[in-house]
Amino acid sequence: MSDIYKRKLDHIELCTNGDVENGVHRGLFEEVHLLHDALPELAMDELDLQAKFLDHQLSAPLMITGMTGGPAEAGEINRGLAILCADMGIAFGVGSQRIVARAPESTETFRVRSVAPNVVLIGNIGVMQAKALGAARVLELVMAIEADYLAVHLNPAMELVQPGTDADRDFRGGYDTIGHLVDALGGRVLIKECGTGLSPKVVRRLMGLGVRAVDVSGVGGTSWIKVEALRNEGMHGRLGKTFAAWGLPTAPATAMARSVAPDATIVASGGIDNGLTAARALALGASVAGLARPVLQAWQREGAAGAYGFLSEVLAGLRMAMMLTGSRSVADLRDTPRVYGPNLHGWLQQTGVLR
Ligand SMILES: Cc1cc2nc3c(=O)[nH]c(=O)nc-3n(C[C@H](O)[C@H](O)[C@H](O)COP(=O)(O)O)c2cc1C
Repeated sequence: MSDIYKRKLDHIELCTNGDVENGVHRGLFEEVHLLHDALPELAMDELDLQAKFLDHQLSAPLMITGMTGGPAEAGEINRGLAILCADMGIAFGVGSQRIVARAPESTETFRVRSVAPNVVLIGNIGVMQAKALGAARVLELVMAIEADYLAVHLNPAMELVQPGTDADRDFRGGYDTIGHLVDALGGRVLIKECGTGLSPKVVRRLMGLGVRAVDVSGVGGTSWIKVEALRNEGMHGRLGKTFAAWGLPTAPATAMARSVAPDATIVASGGIDNGLTAARALALGASVAGLARPVLQAWQREGAAGAYGFLSEVLAGLRMAMMLTGSRSVADLRDTPRVYGPNLHGWLQQTGVLR
């Protein structure tokens, strides 16, 4: 098997069974206390979970964020999860399509339209790979899988804990590349981190380029720094351990992004593993809560039925949190009263979100 396929399978194995969480907190979502409403004046069946995701309407404010593609097993995962997302009316992202440039036959593993014609589908590429490929070639990748949108991922921390060449350590030209992609794709672009968080400075500058959607993908769930630390020995492995919890926790990253981008589609991912956490993310300003590793784990344990059961439970938890805060819609949830714990309060105060 080629090295690039092996790397993808390593990631699936490590993210299913390895110790790859930052180990310090869960995105600080544990410090968002939504106030209980003992007399909600609502019936479960009148809760409205619909959410706007760029130009689409979702049945629930959830998405599975990009994970995989390449080896045949990754294709099975993509097709199975895309079918689930189509059934549930939530969005689905494939993993990085970079591999297609080196192994063109792997395109098939990203193609899910034939099994999930109506799913809101998001392609995926790293910003530096997009720079190297050029906007026209990236557009071809998006069209090859009939994606609605392209997620462009940023992951400098992960790059730095992998042994690499000077080229892998040159992060210049990212904003220009994104500007070209926004033009080439008519604005159908979402910029995402990979578990280290987008700061307000980055979000603000992206909005200036015409970007309408970001996934803050903060610290709190899967730590890609830790994944790579487990795959590398010596200095890189040690750097990975030192920086395992580096970055912006997902809860403050979500609130910060909303404060600088009031009209954007904001995905909160990184550490969302149940409906209560999803509700907390929505209360902080997320348009949609994103999940990756917990869905993969459920899939690896019990296949499609496991992933479906897991996502159904997330939805049930979200509905319960909406009822217990007296929130009929996602918009109501955003206005629901809450109390923040001291760490989260500190983040929000010191970054100017709370005054
Ligand atoms: C197995 C696996 C593979 C991933 N591959 C990609 C990828 O190719 N591109 C990308 O943008 N993010 C990738 N991610 C990052 C996720 O989309 C997400 O941002 C991050 O894992 C945080 O979410 P979580 O805590 O729910 O896992 C991957 C995550 C997992 C678990």
